[in-house]
Amino acid sequence: MKIIVEFVIIVYIKNRMFDKNIQNKISEIRKFGKENNIPNVTENVGLFLNFIIKNNKNIKNVLEIGSCNGLSSIYMISELSKRNGKLNTIEYVPHSILRLKKNINSLNFDKYTNIISSDAILYLNKLNKKIIKPKYDLIFIDAMKKQYLDYYLNIINLIKKGSVIIFDDVIKYKYKMQNLYDYLEKENIKYTIINIDFDDGIMILKK
Ligand SMILES: C[S@@+](CC[C@H](N)C(=O)[O-])C[C@H]1O[C@@H](n2cnc3c(N)ncnc32)[C@H](O)[C@@H]1O
Repeated sequence: MKIIVEFVIIVYIKNRMFDKNIQNKISEIRKFGKENNIPNVTENVGLFLNFIIKNNKNIKNVLEIGSCNGLSSIYMISELSKRNGKLNTIEYVPHSILRLKKNINSLNFDKYTNIISSDAILYLNKLNKKIIKPKYDLIFIDAMKKQYLDYYLNIINLIKKGSVIIFDDVIKYKYKMQNLYDYLEKENIKYTIINIDFDDGIMILKK
C-alpha cells in the first residue's frame, strides 16, 4: 500500500512539474534516445538538475558540456526560462546539433539558449584567455568521460564562488575518469557522490 501511495505521489508531482508541451517533448526525446542508443540523462538526473535550478533562484547563467540532442538542456531551460536565465550548451557532433536546435526551437526556448557548436576544450581554452571571463552559476558536465579532468581544469576559473559543478556518470565510468578522482584526492578537493540511479551516480563539487 505504502509503495502505491508513494508511486501515485511521484506521478502526481512529475505531472505538475512541466507543462504538457515540455512533458511531451521530454517523452519524445527519451523514446528517440532509446531507439537510437543515445546516452541521454536518466529521468532522475534530469529531475535533479531541474530541482537544483528551481530551488536556487540565483542560478541564471548555466554552462552545459555535452548537449547531444538536448534532453538535459530541456530539463534545465524549462526552469531557467521562467526567470529569463540562459543555458550555454556545448556540442560538437553536427547531426546532434541539428536535433538539439530543432528540439529547443520547438519549445520556443531559443532565446534562453546559446548553442556553442565547438569542441569543448577548444572553446573553454578561448574563454580562459579572455580578460573578462564569463562566470557561470552552475556547470553540468556530461561529455567525453575521459576528458572530465580537462573540463574541470578549464572551468574552474569560469564558475562563481559558492556555485556547483555537477558531473554525470561518475560511478559506472569511474575507470575512464580515474585521473579526475586522483586529482581531487591529491588537491584535497571535497566532493559528494549521489547514487541517483540504481546503476550510476553524479558528482557534486562546490567552488
Ligand atoms: C552523454 S551525451 C550527452 C547527453 C545529454 N546531456 C542529454 O542528456 O541529452 C555526450 C555528448 O557529449 C558530446 N561531446 C563529447 N565530447 C565533446 C567535446 N570535447 N566537445 C563537445 N561535445 C562533446 C558528444 O558528442 C555527445 O553528444
